[in-house]
Amino acid sequence: MALVRDAKTLSTDDHEFGGQHTEIKLELVEKYLKAYSTALRQKFNSLWYIDAFAGTGSRTVRIDAKDGDLLDEPVPERVESRRGSAKIALDIEPRFDRLIFMDQKPAHCAALEALKASHPGRDVHVLNGDANVIIQNNINRVDWSSRRAIMFLDPYGMEVAWETLQAIAKTKAIDVWFLFPLSGLYRQAARNISGVDATKRRALTTMLGTDEWEAELYSPVPPIIDLLGTLEAPEERQRNADVAGLESYVKRRLETIFPLVADPFPLPPQKKPQRFSLFFAASNPSPKAIDLANRFARHIISAGISSHVRPR
Ligand SMILES: C[S@@+](CC[C@H](N)C(=O)[O-])C[C@H]1O[C@@H](n2cnc3c(N)ncnc32)[C@H](O)[C@@H]1O
Repeated sequence: MALVRDAKTLSTDDHEFGGQHTEIKLELVEKYLKAYSTALRQKFNSLWYIDAFAGTGSRTVRIDAKDGDLLDEPVPERVESRRGSAKIALDIEPRFDRLIFMDQKPAHCAALEALKASHPGRDVHVLNGDANVIIQNNINRVDWSSRRAIMFLDPYGMEVAWETLQAIAKTKAIDVWFLFPLSGLYRQAARNISGVDATKRRALTTMLGTDEWEAELYSPVPPIIDLLGTLEAPEERQRNADVAGLESYVKRRLETIFPLVADPFPLPPQKKPQRFSLFFAASNPSPKAIDLANRFARHIISAGISSHVRPR
């Protein structure tokens, strides 16, 4: 049940982020967590949930003020506290055996510690630090032979490094929901290659795990020469991929390391431009595991599309 209060009471403890798309993203992930824990509970003694960009466990949503009319009193702007991904995962039945929450911000970890304290008896670990470092250094030290996990990668922007995804894929035991920052990608991959400076190049290579993006995404355009044969603009290379093309390039990159990558869910689902792609990827290559993950993820994503995405 959401907690409602006056907007004037907002403080630095409140974690406000996202918009309507946050609601949808969490709805899809929650559905998968339920389906996954129900299906795998009998098969594995140890099911983990790993939230690498966990936030605080709750999120603060502003609800606009409403003018009064003949029938209703005016309602001032108010804020509602709703469950974030960490709390949603704690509430899943059948339960996860272990929940690992990571966040770089000490204040967010303090809130996650409070969440842990309010669930005595649950095996919850809160890790403060850069999720890339924690995952790359530790994830393959776990014996995954009799364990399975779901990881949620829900950064604000381009914080997930390619090496982190490689480390996750190497476990062959973790399914991932990854909110990919498509807007970060199209901002860094400027239209003309001359607009992609060294910092942007580095960011793109870190995110995509290769510098081949340049050859894949950019094509030469002929120089512009006026009627008298004077060169008006030199030869340039321009991005040949639009937003959909960039998204399919990201999918192809993910497919180089994960045996299954579902077609992503666009977020926000209605408004242009699309800012994120919610990807599902599974790392277990066994045909049975792939079949199960594929059925769940495709069902959840296509049900989400039919209820949230208007046909174009
Ligand atoms: C969009 S919020 C996550 C929201 C959360 N999934 C929820 O539903 O409540 C992103 C979080 O990632 C954290 N963060 C940013 N960079 C990070 C990093 N490199 N490692 C770990 N956490 C990071 C931020 O402090 C923030 O809490």
